[in-house]
Amino acid sequence: MSIELLRAHYGFSKMPFGKDVAPGALFRPAGHQEAVARISFLVGESAAGVLTGEVGAGKTVALRAALTGLDQSRHTVVYLANHTVGIRGLHGAIVTALGGVPRFHAAALVPQAAELLAAESAERGKRVVVVLDEAHLCSPEQLEAIRLLMNAELDSVAPFALVLCGQPTLRRRIRLGAFAALDQRIALRYHLAGMTPEETGAYVAHHLGLAGRSDRLFSDDATALIHQVARGLPRQVNNLAIQSLVAAYATKKAIVDESSARMAVAEITAE
Ligand SMILES: Nc1ncnc2c1ncn2[C@@H]1O[C@H](COP(=O)(O)OP(=O)(O)O)[C@@H](O)[C@H]1O
Ligand SMILES: [Mg+2]
Repeated sequence: MSIELLRAHYGFSKMPFGKDVAPGALFRPAGHQEAVARISFLVGESAAGVLTGEVGAGKTVALRAALTGLDQSRHTVVYLANHTVGIRGLHGAIVTALGGVPRFHAAALVPQAAELLAAESAERGKRVVVVLDEAHLCSPEQLEAIRLLMNAELDSVAPFALVLCGQPTLRRRIRLGAFAALDQRIALRYHLAGMTPEETGAYVAHHLGLAGRSDRLFSDDATALIHQVARGLPRQVNNLAIQSLVAAYATKKAIVDESSARMAVAEITAE
């Protein structure tokens, strides 16, 4: 099935439900807005917080939305999403993000990271925001290393804002006894849940509108089924919506009705 045929069939200016959404073209359901507001709060307070959500809930999208809104001249964002690199990799990534060349020995690298973090605010007047995305994949040692960096300053001012973002297991993990010290530093926790049925309907319409179709291309019962199966999680809504478009096209339908959505569900849940 050619995407180009599909696009032409529906008269889309571009294919809807794509992975990449321009910052100005985001859909902003309540959960997304709440998440963005909390991340902004953490940045403003140089505090630490935890953002959780299931796979495809829109966590990374919310992070991006909050971080791209920051005044670049006053903030330095260190965004880390690859945690297969060990503690050394974590410190090294922080040093690199702050413009340094990581020292070879751990004994020198750790203070280097701490010094660069402190210098960013003390010398450049910039607030550092450290974001660990996919933080449920962080090792206990990495989480402890981050906490130690947070405590590096002797005064009470935290040297950076910290956003730990990940799947729901992250929250439970930090609650475990071994992380009590980190747990106590967490100023707020937010769970980004799936969209409500109304939001999913508006989300589908939003994406179709961006593709040039502002009429009702999906029937109400098709949207309701997609919502139910996707549990309101945007990525899964995207996948089901695209597959529904394919099914409706294959059966020569002008709109996506419930039977098209059912075919999409069968297709996707059979994978
Ligand atoms: N607010 C939103 N507006 C538009 N699309 C969104 C939004 N939130 C999520 N999406 C879509 O869902 C996909 C998954 O979101 P993402 O933030 O990567 O999920 P997570 O990080 O929670 O796994 C994105 O690639 C995007 O296509
Ligand atoms: Mg993500």
